[in-house]
Amino acid sequence: MSKGVIILGSSNSKGNTAKLVSYIKEHTSFDIIDLKEKEIQHFDYEFKNQDDFNTLFKEIVNQYDTIVFATPVYWYSMSGILKVFFDRISDFLYKEQDFGRKLRGKRTAMISCSGEQDIEASFYIPYNKSVEYLGMEAIGTVHGCVNDGALTKVTKERLEKLTIKLVAEKATVDSNKE
Ligand SMILES: Cc1cc2nc3c(=O)[nH]c(=O)nc-3n(C[C@H](O)[C@H](O)[C@H](O)COP(=O)(O)O)c2cc1C
Repeated sequence: MSKGVIILGSSNSKGNTAKLVSYIKEHTSFDIIDLKEKEIQHFDYEFKNQDDFNTLFKEIVNQYDTIVFATPVYWYSMSGILKVFFDRISDFLYKEQDFGRKLRGKRTAMISCSGEQDIEASFYIPYNKSVEYLGMEAIGTVHGCVNDGALTKVTKERLEKLTIKLVAEKATVDSNKE
């Protein structure tokens, strides 16, 4: 059975992005990894970091076929927490490359959340280029927002479309594995 995971990269584990993440989890049963709960240091050219990243990354590539990244919009960009996670993927391009290569062919999507209903397509350039470089298969991106503590109607509609795609992809992967 293929498995999916949502990687939450917000500074608020119970904030607005987490609400979008809960919707995806509810409709896909994907696991959630909250990067706020992990200790992940900035990329080090000398690879001297002693933190949670090495074990976490290996768990992700060994256990999951689909990886959904979820980020708030902080200063027109993905959150620093998620950006550091992407930076650290470089560890596995320089060292222990067998694990880095495991990202190839995995499916991925990106969810973003800001105070606005829409976002410029350019926001997704770093994500799109990164996953293309890593050889991952991009399924889609969804932007949303939260009003008075609840997902807006448009946000729910967009998330619903993405979850339908994620579930359909999962069914295809499972039938190919049989
Ligand atoms: C440090 C910081 C920077 C932000 N920058 C932007 C921004 O550039 N554009 C925007 O529309 N909203 C911006 N916001 C608003 C957040 O994107 C918005 O409140 C989002 O829902 C927060 O999600 P969270 O609860 O997961 O942190 C910013 C918020 C913070 C805290």
